[in-house]
This record gives sequence, C-alpha cells and structure tokens, in this order.
Amino acid sequence: MLQIPYSGSDPLTLATCLDKARTKEILSYHGIPNAPFFIAAHVSQIENKNLTYPLFVKPIWEGSSKGIFTSSFVNNRKELSEQVERINTEYSQPALIEEFLSGREFTVSILGNGEEAEVLPIVEIDYKDFPEGFIPIYSYEAKWILDTKENPLDVFSCPAKLNPVLETRIRQIALQAYNSLRCRDWSRIDIRLDANDNPNIIEINPLPGILPDPKENSCFPKAARTAGISYDEMLNKVLLAAARRNNLL
Ligand SMILES: Nc1ncnc2c1ncn2[C@@H]1O[C@H](COP(=O)(O)OP(=O)(O)O)[C@@H](O)[C@H]1O
Ligand SMILES: [Mg+2]
Repeated sequence: MLQIPYSGSDPLTLATCLDKARTKEILSYHGIPNAPFFIAAHVSQIENKNLTYPLFVKPIWEGSSKGIFTSSFVNNRKELSEQVERINTEYSQPALIEEFLSGREFTVSILGNGEEAEVLPIVEIDYKDFPEGFIPIYSYEAKWILDTKENPLDVFSCPAKLNPVLETRIRQIALQAYNSLRCRDWSRIDIRLDANDNPNIIEINPLPGILPDPKENSCFPKAARTAGISYDEMLNKVLLAAARRNNLL
C-alpha cells in the first residue's frame, strides 16, 4: 500500500493459503491432486458426500497443528460429528473434512520465482518411531508435546528416500501448487501419498517457519542445509528473489 517493496507473497495469496478449503478449490481447478473434501460450519451441514472413511477433520483456517489431534482421525459418523462440533465451538470456524491420506508424508521447500524457482531437497516426516497408539500425523501432540527442545522428535529425514518417478512427481505438483496460488519468493508445501501412492497436496505455507537452530525441527532451513545452503544464504536467496521480482537488481 505504501509502495515499499517487500519479500514473500502478497496479502491475497497469504489469505487464500490460510483458508485451506479455498486453496483446495484453486488446486482442484488447476487439476492438482488433493484429498476430496467438504466444509461444515455446523454439525447440521454434515452431508453424505460419498467420502470414504477414515476421514480427517481440522479447522479451516489455522496453522502450527492447532486443532489437529489424534481424535481428528475419524472412522464413523458419530466421531465425525463430535470433531466438527469441537472445531465449530472451540475455534469458532468451519471444519474442513477430508479423506484421510494414508501414505508417506513429505514437505517441499521452494525458493525463487518463475523459471528460476528452485525445489530444495524433499523432507520426509517418518512416523515409524512414533509411540504406539499415535495415528501417523503431524498433530498438535506430535509438534508440541512429543517434540520438545530437551527431547527433539527425530521424525524428519532429508533428502527423503524416493524412487525417481515419485520424486519427480512430488516436485512437479509442489511447483504447480506454488504457481497456481501465485506464491512469491518462497513457500513450503505439505504433501501426502494416498493409498495408491499418488502424491496429494495437504496445504501451502507461504510463510514457513525458519527456526535457525538445527536442533529445533524446522523444515525449510533443514532442506536448505541439505542443499548446502547456509541459514544466512537461505535468507539472502529469499531477499534476492524479492529484489529481482521488484526490478531492484
Ligand atoms: N487429509 C489428510 N490426510 C492425512 N493426514 C492429514 C490430512 N490433513 C492433514 N493431515 C495431517 O495433519 C498434519 C497437519 O495438517 P496441516 O493441514 O498441514 O495443518 P497445519 O497448518 O497445522 O500444518 C499434516 O502434516 C498431516 O500429518
Ligand atoms: Mg502443515
């Protein structure tokens, strides 16, 4: 508004990506795979949309795993109603109900714009060492209770071990998602495989976390480090992308 150039996506993209359902509508328009879904601002809006259980229920506009617990994974209509009710009352917002993507999970960091956009090494969130009884999801429990500064949860591997076909496909849909939402300079895209090992977009983070300490689990800096890019170089690359985009270089 003040005509001061800045790094990162514009307010429209930031707002759209915060609204996970609107994001999915745009992804679907562009033919980019994401889990079938509907939204419910009240339990009375739960409809038979022919989605196949298990389903996953989360707040439509939160982040940092807020509102996402083991109980978000639901197997029947009763559990679904309870979770929709929980989201509606505790978070004062509609619930997003999606088919559960049962396969491996990845997060993909992207730096730059247009032809120069660079996909950094893929991070896998590997749930095999999760305590028993936990559904394999990056829930509030996983992010903030199981993973502490004193006892970091060792679930991230980078680069993810992937066959070349799957790796190409993941990189491709991450870039497509980035461009379809008109992300700028940088973003991190969450992806999960469905039961047939096809990658689907979960959500787009146009303002990814960047904790500098490698011991704290922050995926964008982790991906950059794996690519041989230091923390300072990573920040400079974001700034340079923004400067170039604004014709300042
Ligand atoms: N449709 C889904 N199927 C399977 N797991 C999911 C699905 N949606 C979210 N998750 C799990 O929940 C986690 C958090 O969801 P996400 O939408 O990325 O929320 P946040 O904005 O809090 O990161 C994901 O990293 C994934 O483990
Ligand atoms: Mg996420």
